[in-house]
Order: sequence, then structure tokens, then C-alpha cells
Amino acid sequence: MQQKNPDPSPPQADPTGRPHDLEGSSRRGFLYNVFAGVIGLVALAVPLTVGLLTFFAPLRRRSEGTLVRVASVADIPPDGIPRRFPVVARRRDAWSLYPPEPIGAVFLRRTSEDAPPEAVSSICPHLGCAVDFRDNLGRYLCPCHNSTWTADGSRVEPASSPSPRDLDELKVEVKRGQVWVDYQKFRNGISEQVPV
Ligand code: FES
Repeated sequence: MQQKNPDPSPPQADPTGRPHDLEGSSRRGFLYNVFAGVIGLVALAVPLTVGLLTFFAPLRRRSEGTLVRVASVADIPPDGIPRRFPVVARRRDAWSLYPPEPIGAVFLRRTSEDAPPEAVSSICPHLGCAVDFRDNLGRYLCPCHNSTWTADGSRVEPASSPSPRDLDELKVEVKRGQVWVDYQKFRNGISEQVPV
């Protein structure tokens, strides 16, 4: 009597004669898909990250000052009297760079031949008027509400001065006889020196 085959679809054999491993093949396919997905995400994330960093780089720069050459050391007599110098620079907003133009002014002074230059902003910390140094008074004067400062930028009579703080000091670098100022503006009307 002839016996029936209990399994109508016996396992397939590959050309080498080995049985085909369906479970292993499916696992390899799954891992391949995961690997391809990760590679795809990385390939997408890299240009996206670079693009975002480039796009927002100008916003990060806004918090920094602008290093500008404003004079040579020889332009500042070592007599302790502040002199006014324009600040000319390439103004930059978030995404544009403009031709050189005046963006403000600073006062520079040297108290002796060997002393490094000191710089203060010409902007009044009260409401932003331009201050002037009056040789006859030996003081800075703001014409808007008569705040006064000594030659080193300290307020005269701070308790009654309209200005909430001393004149804003600016960092100075001297390179090969040239005076560079880290020019920036600060918020008006407050006692702290906070960049805008
Ligand atoms: S703006 Fe200078 S004292 Fe008011």
C-alpha cells in the first residue's frame, strides 16, 4: 500500500542543495532596513544641522562687539584728556553686511606715555544722547539732562545724576601702534552695563 506525503509543500532547497533559511533571511532583511533607515536619517540630519547653524550664525554674532581700528596711539596725547574719535565699520544686521560707515564714536585717553589707552562710549547711559568732553570743565557733559562725568568716566554726584551709571567702558587692544576698540552699545536707563 502506498504512503501519503504528510507535508504537501516540502522545504525548498537552494542551488547548493542546502535548505533555504526563511527565518534568517527575514531577520537579515529587517536589519538591512533598520541600517538603511539610520543611514538615511544621518544623511538628512547632517546637511539640515549645517544649514540651521549657518542660518542662525548671524543671530549668535549679534551679541558680540565689533573690533574696530579707531586711531593710532600717536593720535592720543598722554595728558589724560579724552579725545573723541569716530567709529567707522562695516555694519552688519542679522543677514547683511553693509559698506563702511560711521556707527558711533568713542573717547580715548592716555594718562601717561606708558599707560595703555582707555576707551569709553560717547553714548549717554541715561537716554542715549551724545556726550561731550568740555575742556573748560575738565568733565564730560551730556547736554540733554546735564549728567556729568570725570575724565575717567565716573559719574559726578552719582546720587543726583540723571545717568544711572558711569560711562560705558570699552575694551581696547593695541596692535602695531594702532588702537582697536571692541565697540558695542548698551541698554539705556539701567544701572548695569548690558549689551543690546
Ligand atoms: S540723556 Fe544724557 S543725561 Fe539724559
